[in-house]
Amino acid sequence: MPGPVAKRVYIKTYGCQMNVYDSARMADVLAPLGYAPCDAPEDADMAVVNTCHIREKAAEKVYSELGRLARIKAERRREGATYMIAVAGCVAQAEGEEMRRRAPFVDIVCGPQAYHRLPELVARARREGGAVDTEFPAESKFDFLPEASAPQGVAAFLSVQEGCDKFCTFCVVPYTRGAEVSRPVAAVMDEALKLVGQGTREITLLGQNVNAYHGLGPDGKSWGLGRLIRALAGIDGLWRIRYTTSHPLDMDGELIEAHRDVPALMPFLHLPVQSGSDAVLRRMNRRHDTAGYLRTIERLRRARPDLALSSDFIVGFPGETDSDFEATLKLIADIGFAQAFSFKYSPRPGTQAAEMADQVPEDVKDARLHQLQALLRRQQDAFNLACEGRVVEVLFDRPGRRRGQSMGRSPWLQPVHVNDDVRLGELRPVRIVKSLANSLAGVAA
Ligand code: 5AD
Ligand code: SF4
Repeated sequence: MPGPVAKRVYIKTYGCQMNVYDSARMADVLAPLGYAPCDAPEDADMAVVNTCHIREKAAEKVYSELGRLARIKAERRREGATYMIAVAGCVAQAEGEEMRRRAPFVDIVCGPQAYHRLPELVARARREGGAVDTEFPAESKFDFLPEASAPQGVAAFLSVQEGCDKFCTFCVVPYTRGAEVSRPVAAVMDEALKLVGQGTREITLLGQNVNAYHGLGPDGKSWGLGRLIRALAGIDGLWRIRYTTSHPLDMDGELIEAHRDVPALMPFLHLPVQSGSDAVLRRMNRRHDTAGYLRTIERLRRARPDLALSSDFIVGFPGETDSDFEATLKLIADIGFAQAFSFKYSPRPGTQAAEMADQVPEDVKDARLHQLQALLRRQQDAFNLACEGRVVEVLFDRPGRRRGQSMGRSPWLQPVHVNDDVRLGELRPVRIVKSLANSLAGVAA
């Protein structure tokens, strides 16, 4: 029997690391249908847009990208060929059928829980001219997705948990990704072993609420993330472990102790706090206050004194006053972050906060974001500057932008580049000679 006809798929990814991971899985699921990945939509027979719904801006980008793809599709039509357009991810989940009404040239709308059904959706779209699947199926997509076909690189992502039950009042994730689900320990271990066998040396465990992980262990009991990390650290050849994104409430003793006891667990933690005002945190339904967050940070720093911190902040949440905002600046000054992400509050359809009174005017949000980012920038610069002259371990995971350059990451996730002759996959001590805006320059020691 002849093999499948060679076809090409272009996958465009927006949003979080979970989407990056999902896009790789979608490539795997489409491979047996004869689709090989390509880098330009013009070279493809099918385009998949993996979308993000977290803020309005992210969601809007999707429609401009779709406009570009529609033009390619129209051109193909004129040539008598076909071009399939699939929209995946959180905008697909949120808009469903509505998306095909708004952009009728879209063939497939596929929510994040239905990726394993993509082959079926492709067949249905060919047969019926379109297919939409935004169910939260009873089966787990992970049980049906094929094994990763291509090596995932020196530093890889591994999804261990998905969805969220927290319902922060600003956030669409519980609606687009559904309820919290954890993959069983054995499935995670199998995937990690396979990655390491293919040359992966660093794994970042992914989940929308990764530290709420409670997967079924081989002993029939539920394992938390701390226990999972200890088991993963036993894999020969796995040198580094990270995890993201976490919620302060789920930072339990077992996980904090893992930071103390597991050298492979890197001393860098992204722990979003969103605001430094208790009144705002209450209205956000974060279910912790600033004192609780500070206590957690203190425990973490006692467990791992060289731990560097990262966070997410939202400015201009409904009702945020000047003094609420000042409290956020104070929290940042008190803790000191190595880096952080900050956003203007963006009202999302269907969330509680979008209906709240006292929406903050755009110019106030702009001014606050500007001030907050300047403070975070100063802290990041100070953190990077403090590395100058030090020797840090760098795991080299990709070629640099210039010829002869290699790039890697420090334990604190800082990108480091050297001009020395190093192999990808090598872990080398590097002397940091210069701290730049978003990276460090070093010399292999
Ligand atoms: N507006 C602005 N920022 C948001 N985030 C989530 N929802 C919104 C929103 N509606 C931010 C939070 C979260 C990060 C992933 O995105 O800070 O931690
Ligand atoms: Fe969204 Fe994170 Fe809150 Fe869940 S915990 S609702 S993903 S911000």
